[in-house]
Amino acid sequence: MAWKIMVTGATGIVGREIVRRLHQREVEFVAACRQEGAFPEDIKNISLDYANPATLDQAFRNVDVLFLLIPFADSMREWAENAVGAARRAGVKLIVRTSALGADPGSPYLWLRTEGEINRMLSESGVPSVLIKTNSFMQNFDRLYGEALRQGALYLPEGEGRTSFVDVGDLANVVTEILVNPFNHLGREYSITGGRALSNAEALSILSTRCARRISYVPVTEEITRKALKKIGASSWWIEFVLSRHRSVRDGEGEEVTNTFQELTGLEPRTFEDYSEELAESLLVRPGGVDLH
Ligand SMILES: NC(=O)c1ccc[n+]([C@@H]2O[C@H](COP(=O)([O-])OP(=O)(O)OC[C@H]3O[C@@H](n4cnc5c(N)ncnc54)[C@H](OP(=O)(O)O)[C@@H]3O)[C@@H](O)[C@H]2O)c1
Repeated sequence: MAWKIMVTGATGIVGREIVRRLHQREVEFVAACRQEGAFPEDIKNISLDYANPATLDQAFRNVDVLFLLIPFADSMREWAENAVGAARRAGVKLIVRTSALGADPGSPYLWLRTEGEINRMLSESGVPSVLIKTNSFMQNFDRLYGEALRQGALYLPEGEGRTSFVDVGDLANVVTEILVNPFNHLGREYSITGGRALSNAEALSILSTRCARRISYVPVTEEITRKALKKIGASSWWIEFVLSRHRSVRDGEGEEVTNTFQELTGLEPRTFEDYSEELAESLLVRPGGVDLH
């Protein structure tokens, strides 16, 4: 029997990789996000908004397996409650959710506590689920820090903390495997990491070699980052959320390395060296006024 699959967050960094894989494998699915017409005609696309429960009730009708991606945002808890509530009302049979490695409603770190509270709400909702807890993405270096890297230095309050960075393509491989065989994973929880943990200094040393140019990591205080976030108008909740992410890395919470990716896919995780080749190319293609050669 073919399950009716919906992929939310379909235009995001993770969602579009899942969409690409399902499409290549000729699996039937619907891609969902707020934006309409975000995909070519041969990909079924529906618009929904977590802030608007009526759109969710409508969208989740006839969905069996829902990949639920709740992005980091001030309203993420409310959005998740709306989505899980609508999925329950619509009779969704299984929710597959990506969350964060270390997510725990009792965590001292706001971001891991928030992720943990959403996971607990999902498990108490009565809708069967599969939980994929992932470490931070390699792609954050481009998406969040690209401009700083082009300028030659990354300033973060992460001390010498190490992270087993995950490639979003690897994460999408795991999600895709689960979506095509969802009921083999019912009730399971998986922790996905990269193959080894790197400090920011080590990561940028790898990138510097690829760029043939020095790009430094400069550890700073939380106060400096707080001021920078205030300056761009971030809400106080968001500032605490972001600072708690950095603090958790500084405290060593991102160091764990698991074999779950290999066990689920039979593949080796992408290395930071390999990702750096791609990142170096994008930094060189879009230089920020500094000599990159
Ligand atoms: N980034 C990391 O390093 C990291 C670390 C640990 C865990 N994670 C996990 O990774 C996931 C984050 O995914 P991501 O980086 O792919 O997110 P993303 O790139 O920010 O994409 C967010 C997606 O959600 C959609 N969206 C945003 N607001 C929405 C709303 N109100 N209603 C419906 N859809 C909405 C966006 O599309 P539209 O704007 O078109 O609606 C987009 O498709 C989360 O599950 C998080 O727990 C990330």
